[in-house]
Amino acid sequence: MSLLEIENLTARYSSGAGDVLKGIDVSVEEGEIVALLGANGAGKSTTLRAISGLVPHVGGSIKLGGVPLFGQGVEAIVRLGVAHVPEGRRVFPGLTVAENIMLGASNRTGLGRAEMMREVDEKFELFPDLVRLRDALGWTLSGGQLQMVAVARGLMAKPRVLLLDEPSLGLAPLIVQQVFKIVAEIRRRGTTVLLVEQNANVALSVADRGYVLETGRVLVSGKPEDLWKDPQVRAAYLGGHAIA
Ligand SMILES: Nc1ncnc2c1ncn2[C@@H]1O[C@H](COP(=O)(O)OP(=O)(O)O)[C@@H](O)[C@H]1O
Ligand SMILES: [Mg+2]
Repeated sequence: MSLLEIENLTARYSSGAGDVLKGIDVSVEEGEIVALLGANGAGKSTTLRAISGLVPHVGGSIKLGGVPLFGQGVEAIVRLGVAHVPEGRRVFPGLTVAENIMLGASNRTGLGRAEMMREVDEKFELFPDLVRLRDALGWTLSGGQLQMVAVARGLMAKPRVLLLDEPSLGLAPLIVQQVFKIVAEIRRRGTTVLLVEQNANVALSVADRGYVLETGRVLVSGKPEDLWKDPQVRAAYLGGHAIA
């Protein structure tokens, strides 16, 4: 059984005309990094939002560890083990880095203050660049630092699967590399990752498998080397990107 099993997922917004997702199948095994790729508007973020219970009209099924997620509330889905780091890295500008990270533990009832502080310190091991910014306010951070705080906050939920939406967006190439090194390290430490990226190059450099979405359908899926080789994929999507 896959950790996360998405079958024939359809999704539609109340305000939208029709189905934004038209029956997609995606599976994520325990311990994998899986990348969802595709052009702007393909339905990548909607897929993550559907997993988190944030899309009003959905069909098909999504299971985490065999447990159906549809019909569960947003909070319940977090408690079941889904942490979602959305597009745009929403960090509270008036809170410190440490306070922003702590907020990620709000799903964990019974977690004492001392234990929480210990876990925040653990997060700083993963993000050494943030240590000196522990007491810095959110509004003072750079884009890369905001992304790291958002990821650290997601990890505080101790998720079974971490959903990352476009972590590279708007970051300089060197910072993107740092963020993806951390993504690889997060998996090495045992957390499964479902990653959404327009930047196929960098996503496939860390992913075990990828899915290419095109207007709400899975165009093709497979291992990174197979995706790079697929002429249809290159033509439709990856072709526009330089290959490292
Ligand atoms: N809140 C919303 N209401 C209506 N339509 C939306 C909403 N969010 C996204 N969409 C539409 O759904 C489609 C897929 O969007 P999205 O999942 O954000 O794509 P991606 O993340 O791949 O860029 C797009 O056509 C987009 O305009
Ligand atoms: Mg998106």
